[in-house]
Amino acid sequence: MSVERTLSIIKPDGVKKSVVGNILNRFETAGLKIKAMKMVHLSKREVEGFYAVHADKGFFDELTTFMSSGPVVISVLEGENAIAKNRELMGATDPKKADPGTIRADYSDYVGENTVHGSDAPETAATEIAYFFAVTELVN
Ligand code: CDP
Ligand code: MG
Repeated sequence: MSVERTLSIIKPDGVKKSVVGNILNRFETAGLKIKAMKMVHLSKREVEGFYAVHADKGFFDELTTFMSSGPVVISVLEGENAIAKNRELMGATDPKKADPGTIRADYSDYVGENTVHGSDAPETAATEIAYFFAVTELVN
C-alpha cells in the first residue's frame, strides 16, 4: 500500500446530468482527498493532447469531440492506492460491463459517454496531473 495521486475527470455527460456532487462524494467517502480541482470547457485540441495515447484508435475523433462538447470537472485525488481505488469506483470502461454500484454502472449511457476518466498507472497519473495542474495549484 502506498499513498498515490491520480487524475479524475468528470466528463461532460456527468456535468450535464448534475451528478458532480454525487461523484465527488463517492471519492471522499472512499477516503480519497481532493488536492486540486477545476471546472473547464476544454478545446478539442486540448483534449487531443490529453488523449494522445489513443490518437490511432477508431474512437479518437468521437472521444475528443465529446470531451470538448461541454464543461468537465478535473481533480487530483490522493490516498492509499488512489489509482486502483478510483478505477474501482469508476467501474469498467464499457458501462454495460461495469459492476453494479459503480459510477459508470449508475450514470453512463454507453462506452462513448462513460461519465468519468481516471489515470491507469503511476506514470500516466503524473503525466496527466502535470497536463492540467501547475505544482502551485496542488494543495500539500
Ligand atoms: O477510460 P478508460 O481508461 O476506462 O478507457 P480507455 O481504454 O483508456 O479509453 C479512453 C476512453 O475512450 C474511454 O473512457 C471511452 O470514453 C472511450 N472509448 C470508446 O469510446 N470506445 C472504446 N471502444 C474504447 C474507449
Ligand atoms: Mg484510460
